[in-house]
Amino acid sequence: MKKPLSLYIHLPFCNSKCNYCSFVSEVRDEKCKQRYVKALVREIQIQGAKYNKHFEIRTVFIGGGTPSSLPLGGIREIMSAVYKNFSVKADSEITIELNPNSASAEKIHEYVLAGVNRFSIGLQCTNGKVLSKMGRTHTSADFDKTIETIREYGISNINADVMLGFPGQTLADVKATLEHLIALKLPHISSYMLSVEEGTKLETMIDKGVLYLPTEKQVVNMYNTTVSVLEKNGYERYELSNFARPGFASKHNNVYWNRTDYLGVGVSSHSYVAGVRFANTSKIDDYIKIVETQDKPPVSHAKKITVSEKREEAIMLSLRTMNGLSVDEFQKEFGENILSTKNDALKKLIKLGLVIIDKNNNIKVTDKGYLVLNRIILELA
Ligand SMILES: C[S@@+](CC[C@H](N)C(=O)[O-])C[C@H]1O[C@@H](n2cnc3c(N)ncnc32)[C@H](O)[C@@H]1O
Ligand code: SF4
Repeated sequence: MKKPLSLYIHLPFCNSKCNYCSFVSEVRDEKCKQRYVKALVREIQIQGAKYNKHFEIRTVFIGGGTPSSLPLGGIREIMSAVYKNFSVKADSEITIELNPNSASAEKIHEYVLAGVNRFSIGLQCTNGKVLSKMGRTHTSADFDKTIETIREYGISNINADVMLGFPGQTLADVKATLEHLIALKLPHISSYMLSVEEGTKLETMIDKGVLYLPTEKQVVNMYNTTVSVLEKNGYERYELSNFARPGFASKHNNVYWNRTDYLGVGVSSHSYVAGVRFANTSKIDDYIKIVETQDKPPVSHAKKITVSEKREEAIMLSLRTMNGLSVDEFQKEFGENILSTKNDALKKLIKLGLVIIDKNNNIKVTDKGYLVLNRIILELA
């Protein structure tokens, strides 16, 4: 029987670059996009020949960058290569990321015909002033229109990305954004706390005193408000930053946290297959050139992960999730009873109200604990 595999496809293009973003994504011309799609299709063929015999795809995530910034026909070409070179299970979750103003009805129709059944759209905030400080080029109304179009094609599985803690964004902005999404009945919301990335325009603006970050207390308040507003409205926080109505948790996201095999294709993509981690080069031009001239995936480094790395990852990833760390499964996989090896640390964390051990013997982070998750991970790793 074939093993389950998740596929991540990276499209590194955007129509403009947001001030805070350090993702591998650039504004490029149509010629570059065409060459990239061609190289990507070739990589899919090569990886299909290697993995299709033993693996069956269960989830696909077409991410970026902004996949919808590809011209019409690009996603169809990429997905045909996936279907030709891999077995894709019939009920696979297939997600695409969109920007609110880069996906025409024609493009959305193309994606649905190519098998896409889940859409993820970056809204960030409904306040236009905050959006323009972010360097975003869309309005809240563009977002609403995109949702309407997606629903016209019969798709209800939709996520919106929301950002917390951007300079100038208030708690009232966060509440208004969430209320807007709740009124739209979106079944999934990802809520990310702003991280100021090196080399971004945002970093320079903060350094020069053009923009001011909110205080930590304000950001914590925004996160806690997000949790309580969403939980009151029937969303479950199934991971630190992810909230879903019943039945709408992302299967692809869960693969990362459960450490199931995933293969990444495209520039800067990461993979974890059969205990080996590998990553493609993160430069668009190098990616295209290597595939074109050497006819091989442009892997920049690969490493078999050790048992101790696996153990640390198991702790780090499971504690982010609502299900927490299963003491019994951990013992089965690593031959270690974490309740005894980390007895003192656990006692301290429980006393501080940061973790609990539930009746099924799972170590779970509490609401208070989520705010200091890195500290908890360090104590238990
Ligand atoms: C690849 S982008 C999403 C798709 C699309 N390009 C867009 O922006 O609408 C993924 C998400 O990451 C989040 N993100 C990007 N940079 C971030 C940062 N520096 N801090 C926090 N969240 C960030 C944003 O919420 C963004 O929607
Ligand atoms: S946040 Fe999205 S649209 Fe903005 S630059 Fe990053 S990937 Fe592109």
